[in-house]
Amino acid sequence: MINPIRLENKNFLSSLDTSTEEFFHILELASNFKNKDLNIELEDKVLGLIFDKSSTRTRVSFQVAMSRLGGSTVDLNPTTSQIERGEPIKDTARVLSRYCDVLAIRTFKQSDLEEYAKWSSKPVINALTDLEHPCQALADYMTIKEEFVDFKNVVLTFIGDGNNVANSLILYGALLGVEVRIACPKGYEPNNLVINKAQKIYKNKNLLKISNEPISAVRGANVLYTDVWSSMGEENQKEKKDKDFLGFTINKNLVRKADEDAIILHCLPAYRSKEITDEVIESKKSRIFEQAENRLHVQQALLSCLLT
Ligand code: CP
Ligand code: NVA
Repeated sequence: MINPIRLENKNFLSSLDTSTEEFFHILELASNFKNKDLNIELEDKVLGLIFDKSSTRTRVSFQVAMSRLGGSTVDLNPTTSQIERGEPIKDTARVLSRYCDVLAIRTFKQSDLEEYAKWSSKPVINALTDLEHPCQALADYMTIKEEFVDFKNVVLTFIGDGNNVANSLILYGALLGVEVRIACPKGYEPNNLVINKAQKIYKNKNLLKISNEPISAVRGANVLYTDVWSSMGEENQKEKKDKDFLGFTINKNLVRKADEDAIILHCLPAYRSKEITDEVIESKKSRIFEQAENRLHVQQALLSCLLT
C-alpha cells in the first residue's frame, strides 16, 4: 500500500509547485483512489472553498474528495462573506486559516492567490486563476497516462485560446518532457512568462511549439485538447473572439488529421459548435468525461499529500 508523502511546497498555486517525482506520486495515489485500493482518513480536516467565479467540477470534486477522506468543506461564498465587501486578503487569509486546514481558491489574479498563500498559515490550492488551472492539468495528464501508459511519445496539441488551461498544460508538459503544440489565432498566444519558464525546463529540446496553424499542429498528435475561446471574466470580448477564432474548432475533419489513435480532451464546460463540435465531444475518441471524473481522484490525492 502506498502512503501519501508531504509535498515539498506548502502550497499548490502552479503546476510547477510539484516536482516531477511529486507529480507521479500524486498520479499513483489518484489511481489507487480510483481503483478503491486506498483508504485515507483525514478525520476532522476542513477545506475552505473561496470561489470568486462559477464552478461545477472543481467545487463539487473538492467537496466529494474531502468527504471521501473523512473531512469536510466550508463554502465561503464571497458574496455572503465579507470578501465581496473588500476585506483585505491578508486579513481574510489569516482568519480563515485559523479555522480551516487547507484553502482552495478560484479567483482572477494569480497575484491575489499568492497574497492569500503569503498570509495563510495553511496550504492554499489554486482552483483556477486567469493564469493557471493546475488541478485541471493534473487530471488531464492522468487521463493521458491512462491511455498511453507513459508520456514518452505523446504529442499534445491544444487548439484555441492560450489561456489558464493551456498555461498549466504547458508547464506540466515541460516537467514531463511532453511535446506540446499550441495552435491559436495571432495575439492569443499563451503567457510569455509561462513560455519562458517552460522553455528553460525543456532546455534546448524545442518541444514547445506555438503556431497559428491548427492543421499542421494536429498532424501526428496523440491528444487534441481545447477549451472555451472566452474564459470567465472575458464575457465582453466574446463577440470579437468568436470571429477571431473561426477555423479553430475541433471538428471531425481536424480530428482525421491527427494520429489514428488520438484522443480528445476538453476541461469543460464547453460551447458546442464553437471550440468543439457536439459530434466530436460524443465520439469514441472523446475521453472528456473520464477526464472530468479524474478531477476527483487527483484532488483526493493532492489533499492527502497537503494534509498528511
Ligand atoms: N473544468 C473546470 O474547472 O470546470 P468548473 O468550472 O465547472 O469547475
Ligand atoms: N478557461 C476557462 C476554464 C474553465 C474551467 C475559464 O477560465 O473560464
